Amino acid sequence: MTLLQLEGVTRTVQLIDAPPLTILNGVDLDVAVGDRVSIVGRSGSGKSTLLNLLGLLDDPTTGQMHFDGRPVPSFSSGERDRVRGRDVGFIFQQFNLLQGRTALENVMTPLLYAEGRQFWQRSRIAGEMLDRVGLGHRATAMPDKLSGGEQQRVAIARSLVRGPRLILADEPTGALDLETGASVMELLDDVATASGAALVTITHDPAIAALATTHYRLDHGVLTPTDAAAMAVQA
Ligand SMILES: Nc1ncnc2c1ncn2[C@@H]1O[C@H](COP(=O)(O)OP(=O)(O)OP(=O)(O)O)[C@@H](O)[C@H]1O
Ligand SMILES: [Mg+2]
Repeated sequence: MTLLQLEGVTRTVQLIDAPPLTILNGVDLDVAVGDRVSIVGRSGSGKSTLLNLLGLLDDPTTGQMHFDGRPVPSFSSGERDRVRGRDVGFIFQQFNLLQGRTALENVMTPLLYAEGRQFWQRSRIAGEMLDRVGLGHRATAMPDKLSGGEQQRVAIARSLVRGPRLILADEPTGALDLETGASVMELLDDVATASGAALVTITHDPAIAALATTHYRLDHGVLTPTDAAAMAVQA
């Protein structure tokens, strides 16, 4: 089943005292349930901009985008919030942890908007997810007392805690050593498999990209399918 469908999507921003900047140009992309998609590309090629569109955080300037078969512009802002909270697990490049809240409270945040067991047992569920990223012993730590890699793992636990159908990961291993990076990718894959989710990973690391089954390259806002071998050479 197709979760996301983009056709001819562009994203342009208006600049002050300069012509408009086209960041994404004619992007076509299909993401189905269970897909493992990797996107590589140079710094500034538009990767985070694309991920923000996929997570309904921004809108295309032109082109068609469907989520779950529905045109994205037809979602009300409440529906968008619900889709983002329930269906999308976003791992931001800059982590975006809530400062002044413990690791456990950060991971619990998405569950505050959940229902039933997910809500009533939010503390236990969040604690289990922290355990799975190897940070059960740091549950009461504030983000500013955690290393970059630990903050990244808290952000990953937070993105997965509601069992999203779509996991969007912006450089999820960027702050991690090789071994921790590999175990985090394994966790992402396990959680995606368990909940039948699609996983879209942005990475500079060819070894991480090679774990996906569908590969793309983004170059100056143009998205092109590529195979894993070609990608490893170009990266
Ligand atoms: N709101 C904005 N206004 C102006 N320029 C922007 C805006 N958002 C992004 N850009 C520019 O668009 C380009 C693409 O940005 P983006 O963050 O998507 O790149 P990226 O591929 O994620 O890069 P990196 O690998 O460094 O994270 C960059 O040149 C950036 O400066
Ligand atoms: Mg980026």
